[in-house]
Amino acid sequence: MITIKSAAEIQRMDAAGRIVEETLALMGRLARVGVTTRELDREAERYIRSQGAEPSFLGYRGYPRSICTSVNEQVVHGIPGSYRLKDGDILSVDVGACLDGFHGDAARTFLIGSVPEEVQQLVRVTRECFFVGLRYARAGCRVGDIGAAIQQHAESSGYGVVREMIGHGIGRNMHEEPDVPNYGRAGRGPRLAAGMTIAIEPMINLGTERILQLADGWTVVAADGLPSAHYENTVVITDGEPRLLTLHEEADSA
Ligand code: MF3
Ligand code: CO
Repeated sequence: MITIKSAAEIQRMDAAGRIVEETLALMGRLARVGVTTRELDREAERYIRSQGAEPSFLGYRGYPRSICTSVNEQVVHGIPGSYRLKDGDILSVDVGACLDGFHGDAARTFLIGSVPEEVQQLVRVTRECFFVGLRYARAGCRVGDIGAAIQQHAESSGYGVVREMIGHGIGRNMHEEPDVPNYGRAGRGPRLAAGMTIAIEPMINLGTERILQLADGWTVVAADGLPSAHYENTVVITDGEPRLLTLHEEADSA
């Protein structure tokens, strides 16, 4: 069932979303050569709790950390650990926070030191994919309109669109209906209506769209070992322009 949120519920989601946004901004400031992903996780958890919220991911289906940190060929769900960021890495950080019963969910991909131009381009285009999809996050459009637009934008650069992992409705649960794939056909899928809240989250690979899951049961990697980028925001469908709950500052750190 797709839930329609009231204005009061959206206000609560906005508060959760702001904490996610601020956590990601903190991650962008801390993510430097020599820092471990576990250190980032600790700082994220500390910040989220300092705001009276809880990390949505911690304990979700047994997930052991508060954020996901996915480096280079890691697509999503990388587990923070002893890995030390090094010059030329890209780091995708995915953050979820739950405040007053509602979740916010967002991701950014950060450049660590000097990253090859080809990989910087992947990161830029992945962010663009989100905004291209966002054009169709409007009452009366269908979910397939969003996916088709993202897929077209990514594939026109020759990139691979990950199929197995997708965006989602969000609210009292981190994952709600509808599914929001980053591919599809315009005019297909559920119709969007004002008050729906969705996470749009393109996961785009420099090479093949094929992925593998590592033996840790979580980390998803590009099958060809080439870099992958992720960009996500929590979005409200309105009668007009979509409203972003995890991006208020134009000085977006991504
Ligand atoms: N943002 C991710 C998603 O939408 C969060 C899942 S990570 C998990 O699926 F660890 F919580 F599973
Ligand atoms: Co998500």
